[in-house]
Amino acid sequence: MGVLGTALKLIFLGITLLVTVMLIRTLTFPSQQPNVGKCSPEDADFIKLTDEMTKHFQEAIRIKTIAWSNTDIMLSGILDMHTLLERAFPLVHSSKLIKKEAINTYSLLYTVDGSDPSLTPYMLTAHMDVVPVDQQVWDVPPFEGRIVDGFLYGRGTIDNKNSVMGIMEALEFRLKSGNLPVRSFYIGLGFDEEVAGYQGAGEISKALAARGVRLEFLLDEGSTILKGAFRGIESPIALVSVAEKGAVTLNITVEAIATGHSSMPGKESNLGLLAKALSRLEANPHPSMFGRGPEKGLMEAIASEAVFPLKFVLTNLWFFGPVVSWIMSMKPSTNALIRTTTAVTMVSGGTKINVLAPLGWGIVNHRIHPTQSIEEVVNYDKMLVGDERVNLTRYAVWDIDPSPTSPYGDDVYGYQVVARSIKQVFPDAIIAPSVMIGNTDTKFYWNMTDQIYRFCPTLMVQSDLARFHGLNERMSLKNIQATVNFYYHVMANADSKEVFSKHAHTDEL
Ligand SMILES: *[C@@H]1O[C@H](CO)[C@@H](O)[C@H](O)[C@H]1NC(C)=O
Ligand SMILES: *[C@@H]1O[C@H](CO)[C@@H](O)[C@H](O)[C@H]1NC(C)=O
Ligand SMILES: *[C@@H]1O[C@H](CO)[C@@H](O)[C@H](O)[C@H]1NC(C)=O
Repeated sequence: MGVLGTALKLIFLGITLLVTVMLIRTLTFPSQQPNVGKCSPEDADFIKLTDEMTKHFQEAIRIKTIAWSNTDIMLSGILDMHTLLERAFPLVHSSKLIKKEAINTYSLLYTVDGSDPSLTPYMLTAHMDVVPVDQQVWDVPPFEGRIVDGFLYGRGTIDNKNSVMGIMEALEFRLKSGNLPVRSFYIGLGFDEEVAGYQGAGEISKALAARGVRLEFLLDEGSTILKGAFRGIESPIALVSVAEKGAVTLNITVEAIATGHSSMPGKESNLGLLAKALSRLEANPHPSMFGRGPEKGLMEAIASEAVFPLKFVLTNLWFFGPVVSWIMSMKPSTNALIRTTTAVTMVSGGTKINVLAPLGWGIVNHRIHPTQSIEEVVNYDKMLVGDERVNLTRYAVWDIDPSPTSPYGDDVYGYQVVARSIKQVFPDAIIAPSVMIGNTDTKFYWNMTDQIYRFCPTLMVQSDLARFHGLNERMSLKNIQATVNFYYHVMANADSKEVFSKHAHTDEL
């Protein structure tokens, strides 16, 4: 009893100590949110959405700029976009500070000269092309630019004519108010992002590289502001993507077993081996990388803004990390953030009902976590399959290693420019680093800066995500106004020479 009693006491003491330490951590966990005032309609530099601005957005939606494939893009629509921009933004197109170039005929590159040439320029990018619409009927036609119940409907409203028009509108406003840029910057508008971007952003980046351009940071289209996506968090979360997942596709082929009549089969068949390999790959997910990539930063950014008991968990990831990882792996959308995903997408084999198939093949598509590489993923698959008779061949089309992860945090200039601008326009939003599952044009700019951010200032709910490339793509007029103001603040904040002052809590020390 004596020994047991002492042991119990020690355990109790240990647990009390642990909980105390964790509580202290929870209570003192620093907020990562930028400390800035919000932009309000009374401000002299608040941009109120005018009928004219709305009209510009509508016109942009009416111009069809569909990209079906890299050899099939509605190029006349792209040129119509050039004309629209010229007409809608006369100051941008007449200012002595701005040089406009058509790159590879269809892309646009604007060089905006700031007053202080000692500052490294930054770059804003977007794309003019849109994905096709399928046969299904939209509630509102996709190319009419119609406004219904406060929403502008149409292909391109959230992907990505919103950025094209928002950037231009903000710059026009700045020029009109005589508030000239201090830091130089580039605006790059591609025309084939939806079909890999090689002719558009690919050529813009080559032109810039030839001029030896280095960038302080780059902001492209990307993730949005989601409300209600995380249980236990009331505030909308502004996801600033600091990395993109990679992709690798494998063609798993089996032709090791001789074909023959099905009346005298051997113990194994090509199709049986293929099925076994595919089911092993599906049943054994790649390991969780939770804690090694930006998803940890995401949880920590949310942590200080959460309430008990979630706050207790998120501020103590050193202890609860495995539990959070396990919870995240339950839902496909959060599972995709923490690991390399595996999807079996095609399978084929056999020619006749009574002939052993000479060949079986299946396609496995992986989206690679930012901390892994194509090579690691392929090796892991080979280990899982563990059968020399099964061939894993890279399909190669669209394979891409994950992007480098851009830095984020208090002392990172580009991240703070973006974060502060979001906070000014969306004061309720929690700003957090994230990872894009899809790919953007940013791969062409990896060599020019390590600060690449992917973000669109669009407040939406989870179900709106289906509108990307889907039915009834739309943007509220409120979001359009916010978009213009966001880019305006990016331009204003980027004029600052240095990283902004730290948060109040760090100054107090
Ligand atoms: C996979 O490989 C097999 C064998 O070479 C080939 O017949 C099949 O077309 C390939 N699948 C794809 C989608 O390329
Ligand atoms: C694997 O693929 C290679 C090249 O396509 C082929 O020569 C070889 O026979 C295949 N091996 C097996 C075991 O299927
Ligand atoms: C970046 O630099 C590397 C090494 O010089 C080069 O191989 C690569 O093609 C460059 N990437 C781009 C997109 O220019």
